[in-house]
Amino acid sequence: MLDNTCLVDALAEAEARYSDARPRSKAAHARAAQRLPGGNTRSVLHFPPFPLFTEAASGCHLRDLDGHDYVDFLGEYTAGIAGHDDPRLAGAITGALERGWVNGALTGAEADLAEALCARFPSLERVRFCNSGTEANMMALTTARAVTDRPAIMAFGGGYHGGVLLFADGPSAQNAPFETVMGVYNDTERTRDLLRRHASRLAAVILEPMQGSGGCIPAGPEFLQMLREECTRAGTMLIFDEVMTSRLAPGGLQAATGVLPDVTTLGKYIGGGLSFGAFGGRADILERFDTRRPDALMHAGTFNNNPFTMAAGVVMMTEVYPPERAAAFNAAGDALRGRLQLAAEARGLALQVTGIGSMMCLHPLAGPIERPVDVPGEADALAARGLIHLGLIERGHYIARRGMIVLSLPMGRAEFDGLVAAAEDLFDSLAPLLGRGGSRGPDDTRAVSGARG
Ligand SMILES: Cc1ncc(COP(=O)(O)O)c(C=O)c1O
Repeated sequence: MLDNTCLVDALAEAEARYSDARPRSKAAHARAAQRLPGGNTRSVLHFPPFPLFTEAASGCHLRDLDGHDYVDFLGEYTAGIAGHDDPRLAGAITGALERGWVNGALTGAEADLAEALCARFPSLERVRFCNSGTEANMMALTTARAVTDRPAIMAFGGGYHGGVLLFADGPSAQNAPFETVMGVYNDTERTRDLLRRHASRLAAVILEPMQGSGGCIPAGPEFLQMLREECTRAGTMLIFDEVMTSRLAPGGLQAATGVLPDVTTLGKYIGGGLSFGAFGGRADILERFDTRRPDALMHAGTFNNNPFTMAAGVVMMTEVYPPERAAAFNAAGDALRGRLQLAAEARGLALQVTGIGSMMCLHPLAGPIERPVDVPGEADALAARGLIHLGLIERGHYIARRGMIVLSLPMGRAEFDGLVAAAEDLFDSLAPLLGRGGSRGPDDTRAVSGARG
């Protein structure tokens, strides 16, 4: 078991070192906190003692206000796939700038992006755009309720679908007030039973085919297949939230697993770093939004077709991240994940590296992780996560507090070797604290705590 006192003391020391080395960032945070609660306007960016403040970013590199350089393995929580200054994306945005914006009219770029996405993701026959992954999921769920005329949704513990669709330990008090049945991620029989019991009330089942914020935990093929069969049987809409996971294979995880949802939601990287969301899927469902129909469903949004995002999105899907690039990029991620796992095992650490391709997560515990309840949220586990996080930052590698590591396209062998070397050095120093046995006790049932991306 972990030694709680040592871990908490070690974390306090790491926080003091972080703070002492960053006086300008500390002052910037103190100033921000006078008007922004907590000093930020996006909860997930905070970590104690104060978060990173950047002064410059280029390629896959960041520089903080105090002059420290980092390789950016946070990757803007998957939105930053192209790095910070890709010239092709800059060209697309500049082109839109030169043509004028806020036009209140169509430009044709919407149709270009729609074609690119439908060609790429097999469940997409029609698509509509919005401004965030949260909005895409809200639209998908409200569409399901309108089309099926049923009230309830099924979501999964550890699932994250946006700021008002958070299901860490069940629905958050801040969630949009959908009647929600909680399924059990990767538990095929319990979830099948729940689906059958609530069939007549369920408009939709929503899940990430790999839970991202929940700790990079992939859904098993048998579980996904069961969801597909039961949803088809009951007339319930199966929604895959591929806001993060669509980057993990040329046609998203739906193509990789061969299980096609009725509706898919997209976001993050597709907008080339600009605000983006999309929901799409079966033509017979999406055609309900055909504005020429007298009974058309409404889909509003001032910035749904903002010309910057539309232009950047087309370049992202066709030039920056075409299907063949997605395959090679994610294969590199699989290799890196294996190297990190080996580094932990060689040192006898209780540490698992979960994930698929270009997204992975370090979990300081022994044993397999199949669902978020396998990931403890106790003080010692949180201290261990904090130590890994600050330890890698101290070694020039920026990752998410929850342990998530996200690759970007500018990275190559030098960055991957650098991360492995930093992890090995950190693991050597943590070996006395994170010996085999892990932090999981029999009663641990809480998911990774904290805000989501
Ligand atoms: C799987 C998933 N769905 C939806 C969202 C929400 O997207 P946005 O932050 O663009 O609203 C996120 C954000 O992290 C996500 O990871």
